[in-house]
Amino acid sequence: MSRAADSAKVTTATLRALKAQRRRITALTAYDHLLAGLLDRAGVDVLLVGDSVATVLQGHDTTVSVTMDQMVYHCELVARAARRALVVGDMPFLSYQIGPEDALRNAGRLLKEGRVEAVKLEGGAPFAATVQRLVHAGIPVMGHLGLTPQSIHQFGSYQARGQEAAEQRRIVDDARSLAQAGVFALVLEKVPATLGQQVTAAVEVPVIGIGAGPHVDGQILVTHDLLGLFTRFRPRFARRYLELADAIGKAVGDYCRDVRDGSFPNADESY
Ligand code: KIV
Repeated sequence: MSRAADSAKVTTATLRALKAQRRRITALTAYDHLLAGLLDRAGVDVLLVGDSVATVLQGHDTTVSVTMDQMVYHCELVARAARRALVVGDMPFLSYQIGPEDALRNAGRLLKEGRVEAVKLEGGAPFAATVQRLVHAGIPVMGHLGLTPQSIHQFGSYQARGQEAAEQRRIVDDARSLAQAGVFALVLEKVPATLGQQVTAAVEVPVIGIGAGPHVDGQILVTHDLLGLFTRFRPRFARRYLELADAIGKAVGDYCRDVRDGSFPNADESY
């Protein structure tokens, strides 16, 4: 049976089983009810309510500014649409870095108010205690290593990470620390494909790559990149399956022309 036809609810256990069976995991971002429903019905395994909502929908240059209240709002829209996919909510900047208790309170809001089934947070070994605190409270946690966009002001650019041996070793160690702390999966962003392969081999939990090459357990993309709807910048790893921004431009141009020349509405479109 194809994955799209398999309507069983995806859980964190499903993702573990997919890794064990060497079947690749599909994941996409979602921020709203309409698109989330379409993605869910199309058979994607994981819907991530990413803090990329800040850059993609809100027009900011970084993800740093998005708030807990905004994330709760977007999570609830997505969670209400998802029937099959596992819904993961991103912990926004400073919602978990202050300490494990603060993280627990904020992660709890994403589950209780936002209705997500798991949370994601960025960072490695320094966050192992926070991951443990959430997991012990019954909150599944997805880690995020490699390029971690909330640290953009520290990195200074969105360049690929893990290009040098020391950083590669650190990323593999971070993956092991997070796995030991109890994450159910890891997102690995913008690193060399060889490092993607190394991290995937180093941990038993699924590694979901974004710009991390093909040797990982699954892939995630920003939906608005895949659809050609977000065009402000175009990461090399983001394959476009549609050119929706162009299609929308054409449709709106046609509408404006028809209104202006009086051909819309016609008799069939009038009462
Ligand atoms: O917020 C987001 O969209 C993400 C993806 C890059 C995985 O974290």
